[in-house]
Amino acid sequence: MRTYHTVIYSDSKNIEAIPSKSVDLMVTSPPYPMIEMWDEMFAQPGSSAEAALKNGDGFKAFESMHEMLDPIWKEVYRVLKLGGFVCINIGDATRTINNNFVLYPNHMRILKSTLERGFSALPCILWRKQTNAPNKFMGSGMLPSGAYVTLEHEYILILRKGPKREFKKEKDKKIRRESAIFWEERNRWFSDVWFDVKGTPQALNNEDARIRSAAFPFEVVYRLINMYSTKGDTVLDPFLGTGTTTAAAITSGRNSIGYEIDPAMENSVDRIKDAVVDSSKQIIRKRLAKHMEFVVDRLKTNYMFKYENKYYGFPVMTAQEKELILNDPVNITRPDAGMFEVDYSDKPQPEFCKNWPSEFKEQNLDAVCQNVSHAVTAKDSF
Ligand SMILES: C[S@@+](CC[C@H](N)C(=O)[O-])C[C@H]1O[C@@H](n2cnc3c(N)ncnc32)[C@H](O)[C@@H]1O
Repeated sequence: MRTYHTVIYSDSKNIEAIPSKSVDLMVTSPPYPMIEMWDEMFAQPGSSAEAALKNGDGFKAFESMHEMLDPIWKEVYRVLKLGGFVCINIGDATRTINNNFVLYPNHMRILKSTLERGFSALPCILWRKQTNAPNKFMGSGMLPSGAYVTLEHEYILILRKGPKREFKKEKDKKIRRESAIFWEERNRWFSDVWFDVKGTPQALNNEDARIRSAAFPFEVVYRLINMYSTKGDTVLDPFLGTGTTTAAAITSGRNSIGYEIDPAMENSVDRIKDAVVDSSKQIIRKRLAKHMEFVVDRLKTNYMFKYENKYYGFPVMTAQEKELILNDPVNITRPDAGMFEVDYSDKPQPEFCKNWPSEFKEQNLDAVCQNVSHAVTAKDSF
């Protein structure tokens, strides 16, 4: 298996180079309108957003900023295949303009725009970003009625172009089965509130650039890619930033295209080449080790598994997980600037295959537990 990754440093309003109906999934986090850190981008001198901010007209500024994003949603609709998904991570903004503190509902405005373009909305995810910051409670504190509830969540909007995707050819059905996620992952990932999102693998972490670009955690985009595409699909991120989507696409065996307007991000994206093979191996092993832990916990309650994975031999909850296999990236090359090619192993990771079936069948839980705890602690360093 080989995947291809293209990064283009230009405005994603102009993605005419991407053919219509050629992308399977769009995952992104745009700059957030009405959040001051993005004013430089939205409210440039002479723009209508800048004039509205100067005139103290918050809602005019909000609308003008979204009008800059609208053409991009329109292009995303064009390039997406029928049945393709769109996942947009967006937070609302609070801001005081003219002494008036209000919420600017970015998620609502993006939903309106994408629905008008023809997308269908699906249940979305509330990503709970709990903070311990002392200033998280806003307004008049204990005195009614000028206090405001905390803003500790963001949205992951989920939309689809057209009807449900179909997998008709045997080859596509096989890839779909091999792209399955574990049952216990399904229970967490397909839940409407995410409390448990972890950070970014150490190897990929360029903390400074990630803060400057408001990068999303690797785990967010990695989950979404695994939930809404299959191996070999093409994932587009029109606001690539530090390249988190490229890294997650590489780890999950998908192709990717990223657009980024700020050439200063190039260093961060380039770091991916050096780090992603190792970090992918860690992430894949951690998923497998967590599955083993889950299996052991179930066996301890005398649960009888009905199915076994064909490649690893370990028990799984459902027939849909029988052909699940996670492919390690083994080699990454950069044939051209802004282009990566990645080759993958088609073999399961040997340390998760050996002896598992007999150990499970004999219910030799102590041995299994020992192996699992070894795998988890050894690979828990990101
Ligand atoms: C919220 S950040 C995305 C961060 C990214 N998800 C990551 O993990 O690093 C938004 C990014 O969009 C870029 N951007 C803003 N407007 C753009 C445009 N019109 N075309 C391409 N990129 C744009 C910004 O420079 C910024 O890096």
